[in-house]
Amino acid sequence: MKKIFFSTTLVFLHLLTLQSQNKKPLYKDKNKPIEERIDNLISLMTLDEKIMQLNQWTYGKNANPNNIGEKMKAVRPEIGSLLYRSTNPEFRNQIQKKAMTESRLGIPIIFGFDAIHGYRTVFPIPLAQACSWNTDLVKQSCTITAKESWLSGLDWTFSPMLDVARDARWGRVSEGYGEDTFANASFAVAAVQGYQGNNLADKYTIAACLKHYIGYSLSEGGRDYHYSDISNQTLWETFMPPFEAGIHAGAATVMSGFNDISGVPASANHYTLTEVLKNKWKHDGFVISDWGSVRNLVEQSVAKDLKEASMKAFLAGVEMDMVDNAYMDYLPQLVAEGKVPIATIDEAVRRILRVKMKLGLFENPYVDVVTEKKRYLLPNYLKVAEELAAESMVLLKNESATLPITSKYKDLAIIGPMVKDSVHIMGFWEGMGQPEDVETIYEGLEKEFKNKVKLHYALGCDFDGNDKSGFEAALEAVKKSDAVLVFLGEKRNWSGENGSRSTIALPKIQEELVSELRKAGKPIILMLSSGRPLELIRLNEMADAIVEIWQPGTKAGSSVAGILSGRHNPSGKLSITFPQATGQIPIYYNMRESARPKLGHYQDIPRDPLYWFGHGLSYTTYDYSPIQLSADKITKNEKLIAEIEVTNSGEVQGKETVLWFIQDPFATISRPMKELKYFEKKEIKKGKKVIYRFDIDPIRDLSYVDSFGNRHLETGDFYIIVNNQKIKFELVN
Ligand code: GLC
Repeated sequence: MKKIFFSTTLVFLHLLTLQSQNKKPLYKDKNKPIEERIDNLISLMTLDEKIMQLNQWTYGKNANPNNIGEKMKAVRPEIGSLLYRSTNPEFRNQIQKKAMTESRLGIPIIFGFDAIHGYRTVFPIPLAQACSWNTDLVKQSCTITAKESWLSGLDWTFSPMLDVARDARWGRVSEGYGEDTFANASFAVAAVQGYQGNNLADKYTIAACLKHYIGYSLSEGGRDYHYSDISNQTLWETFMPPFEAGIHAGAATVMSGFNDISGVPASANHYTLTEVLKNKWKHDGFVISDWGSVRNLVEQSVAKDLKEASMKAFLAGVEMDMVDNAYMDYLPQLVAEGKVPIATIDEAVRRILRVKMKLGLFENPYVDVVTEKKRYLLPNYLKVAEELAAESMVLLKNESATLPITSKYKDLAIIGPMVKDSVHIMGFWEGMGQPEDVETIYEGLEKEFKNKVKLHYALGCDFDGNDKSGFEAALEAVKKSDAVLVFLGEKRNWSGENGSRSTIALPKIQEELVSELRKAGKPIILMLSSGRPLELIRLNEMADAIVEIWQPGTKAGSSVAGILSGRHNPSGKLSITFPQATGQIPIYYNMRESARPKLGHYQDIPRDPLYWFGHGLSYTTYDYSPIQLSADKITKNEKLIAEIEVTNSGEVQGKETVLWFIQDPFATISRPMKELKYFEKKEIKKGKKVIYRFDIDPIRDLSYVDSFGNRHLETGDFYIIVNNQKIKFELVN
């Protein structure tokens, strides 16, 4: 007690001196180095003030700016962060004013929210964005998201999600960038750069948050929040690289996951949270828990109560507690009992203050207030939204050039539950997207084909259930038509968080509708809107053409219509494999080879998945030249240049992505059959050719990581694989 009294007295004496000199404290001097400002501020803070910085409360029910509801009044001005669900910047500024003026030291609050694939302008789900292979467009979408979020009062988004996912029963497959490690790492960098810009202190930039650290997508059986058995080899080879890339891109924060990593939950895992993230990668930002993941340590039987859970999470390296109030309630005792060193508290506070200072919140705690018209859905935002949605869509099948819809069709039947939908089409985590903003598929088709094609609409059936009463009207529409567009898919909450499903097939009623419509003998064009790969083993046979449109968001109508009319030539390639059936999961392109490659496959379905990672058709054709290499052998210190010439031999311009894979046929540790190491997307005009080039760096592209995170480069043969070409070269000492 004496110590606390003595230090508090000292603090007050210090402040009195400053007051008397009428000088602002050093920590408020933006011209001083950030670390000095942090040292100064921490030296002035009481333990209570420090611990308050380690807490995030959620706020958003009562967004009435005239009446800061009881709950808001209860929020102490010393709170570190708010999960802010209001879209009102003035309300945020009012709350921030409380923090700046009613607390002793005036430490600004950091406001966070889940702007995962857009804020008010909703972009395609991240799984779809990855199919565009257009990192620049993804970066642009994140820049737009940051601006809409910042102008709504936010400083921070809980995005990008980097969970490499191979089990589509897990609904959150929709939120990451697919099954490949390199793809997730590439889009991680694009997203961090898009959100954070060149300087976090600039207006319209927000802090990124890499999540869910780590291995969450291996939740057993695809059941969300469940145990994940992850070997260290898989941890380092598959899950670490996207987070490492995001950290090196400057991501300000990281979110710890719900999953138990082989007996040590992600939110209490000192190895991942401190030894790797802080000590090896030198991350200087902070970690926030997931919603309640501190409290969940009790359910996961690694803590007997919330007090022990708080101690374990905090000492493992989780600096901020999301909405549990656990740190606020228990850290004071844990410090008093000597179980949590004050130095650890100070280091955690330092990390949070560092992010707040980098954001410029001490100098500029308030956001500009502009009208909603100037804030949201600007024409250039919607243009990017349409482009990204169109480039995300994947033409899976197109027998006898059924698509695009040209003058050969005079009448089109437009059938299915997605046609007039404006909710599910935005997908999960739609942010502040509003259904009334969404251009439905029907609206898009009407605009695109006005005076060209007559549309005959019928609902056909609902997303699920057994009601076939709509089938007859649908058949009537088909009879009047030259071809049938059937828009099927998932409801938004069938994927996303807690969106675990025992089957990835669509409900039976949707398949029965197609089977019925097919009897009319007209071409069937399947348009699928889902947050995951689907089981298409039956539908694939019934359709002449199939497009996976994913959940395209606000500009669903014009992007879908543009793909159908050919205004947008499909350029998407799958970021995740479509298995034949749910029972084939997990199946992904970069598996390791079987001991007996020709044996052991399921007897009742074809050996290969229906559509592999990287699959995607176009309305034009591309001819690939043989791969050219600058040499057939290189040393570890040399680069190897690989080039390929792609010709657009078709009738329309298009954008083609070349995916460059490397195979290491044998090494000390077994290697995947092939691994994506580079990709590039370019536009190629009709009849023209373009050269794609991959500069192979042996350490970066030919090495492998072991279960301790150490990289190894072994000499020997390697292969470059592009499309169906495979060319050998040798790495020598
Ligand atoms: C949720 C999600 C996480 C999200 C957080 C805040 O449970 O797991 O992705 O950012 O809570 O909403």
